[in-house]
Amino acid sequence: MQHLGEGLPLQGKKILITAGPTYEAIDPVRFIGNHSTGLMGYELARKAANLGATVFLISGPSHLSIQHSSVSLIKVTTAEEMFNEAHALFPDMDIAVCAAAVADYRPKNMANQKIKKNTEELIIPLIKNKDILFSLGERKEKQFLVGFALETENEVENAIGKLKKKNLDAIVLNSLNDSGAGFGKITNKISFIDKKLEIKTFELKTKAEVALDILNEITSRIHA
Ligand code: CTP
Ligand code: CA
Repeated sequence: MQHLGEGLPLQGKKILITAGPTYEAIDPVRFIGNHSTGLMGYELARKAANLGATVFLISGPSHLSIQHSSVSLIKVTTAEEMFNEAHALFPDMDIAVCAAAVADYRPKNMANQKIKKNTEELIIPLIKNKDILFSLGERKEKQFLVGFALETENEVENAIGKLKKKNLDAIVLNSLNDSGAGFGKITNKISFIDKKLEIKTFELKTKAEVALDILNEITSRIHA
């Protein structure tokens, strides 16, 4: 199944997708990052374009590539760069899906030179990064705004907490407890929770199939 009903359901829609990790520099050669590959976000971008959307994919460091005439790829490194690119595009968007695994903290100061192993203990002060999704939620007007939640305990409760706090229209919950799902895997198992707290749980599938499920859930709600 490629799309709902007749024609291309996302024709004429502009969609912003964030993907991948962010890297936060410690010194010129080291960073804080995470294991996100970006695959979920890239699959969302590919499928959204196939469904007729004009896609803006803001990606943190990733080995993936995407070739589609309707996808603009904007590469960033840090959470701050992702924040700025997302905010520049957001006012003109119809849909935004934040699938990036944004680093929650960054080193307070980046060392200008490579840090030497002069001490037995090294403490690197970290400060919180701005929450891109929360901030988009504050500025939301017409946009259908979707977040992801990665939880290891009280999954549904925590995901609903994020949905409300960030003023989302829906949240995609994926649990690391499900074997076969998560970072570095080609499969994912999700629940889609909308703001009416309607929960739809899907089987373990490839991320390409999951992307289509997510876009179908979004499409049916924006056309409702
Ligand atoms: N997110 C974001 N900017 C951040 C942190 C998170 O846009 N600085 C987005 C992610 O892309 C995801 C959602 O917020 O769509 C939830 O991310 P998650 O890490 O699950 O939750 P946090 O709000 O960061 O809370 P915590 O890590 O403490 O559970
Ligand atoms: Ca986080």
